[in-house]
Amino acid sequence: MTDYPDGVPAVSLHGLSYHFNEHQAVADLDLEVRPGEVFGLLGPNGAGKTTTIRVLTTLLPLQEGAARVFGFDVRRRKMAVRRLIGYVPQQLSADAALTGRENVMLFARLFDVPRKERRPQVDEALEIMGLTQAADRLAATYSGGMIRRLELAQALINRPRLLVLDEPTIGLDPIARGTVWERVEELRADTGMTVLVTTHYMDEADQMCDRIGLMHLGRLRAVGAPEDLKAALGPGASLEDVFRHHAGDTFEEGGGFRDVRSTRRTARRLG
Ligand SMILES: Nc1ncnc2c1ncn2[C@@H]1O[C@H](COP(=O)(O)OP(=O)(O)OP(=O)(O)O)[C@@H](O)[C@H]1O
Ligand SMILES: [Mg+2]
Repeated sequence: MTDYPDGVPAVSLHGLSYHFNEHQAVADLDLEVRPGEVFGLLGPNGAGKTTTIRVLTTLLPLQEGAARVFGFDVRRRKMAVRRLIGYVPQQLSADAALTGRENVMLFARLFDVPRKERRPQVDEALEIMGLTQAADRLAATYSGGMIRRLELAQALINRPRLLVLDEPTIGLDPIARGTVWERVEELRADTGMTVLVTTHYMDEADQMCDRIGLMHLGRLRAVGAPEDLKAALGPGASLEDVFRHHAGDTFEEGGGFRDVRSTRRTARRLG
């Protein structure tokens, strides 16, 4: 699976496992994301999606297995990997006490964007996300959809080749959700950026993702194009049927209190 135009997958995970003390959050995960695709990581609360992403983005140490981003090993080439990735975490990452512009500028400094280029790049990122008018207002006054777009502007400041979005549309109304996706889609069309996204909204995954990986209890249960996953289940199957088929009735075994709490907290902050 490595005959891509530039020879390497955007993301490759082999035998990836991660434990929080006794608890195995990710179990022997193999996954490849192709350059330029929108790949959706789906799965119930507690499936291990965020943990996988955090290992990939070098925010958690690699414990077992291998993880590469455009061929760079996340353990040995941490800084190279970080430079290639733009990341919008599940938890809120914008500072309400700063303006939109100040938030993005902070990231420009963090990512060592050369001083002279900072201002134009910050302006450009705000413009792409449709925040030029609101740039000098405090983020505290933004709607949930605007905050998510601000976080996208932050993540874009280092012109990443891989954009990683952990539940970018959670808690947003349908119009704001649509706007976030439109911006992501435009970006991909313009830059050829690869997108790795998690979502609990099956309609979004179905429409927006080229391929989907379905995780459950730390393992990858199915991977493929939404059409193929649905077809494999039988005529008329929806992506939700695919989800239920592979993740089962996960209420009891899957995400516990901690997972529900963190999801609600994110949704409330963005609401
Ligand atoms: N810091 C932590 N300490 C202990 N356990 C954790 C920690 N973070 C995650 N876990 C556990 O690891 C498992 C995977 O969590 P993870 O956040 O990766 O799931 P997720 O698929 O992103 O879920 P959600 O859809 O709710 O965001 C869960 O059982 C969770 O409770
Ligand atoms: Mg998560």
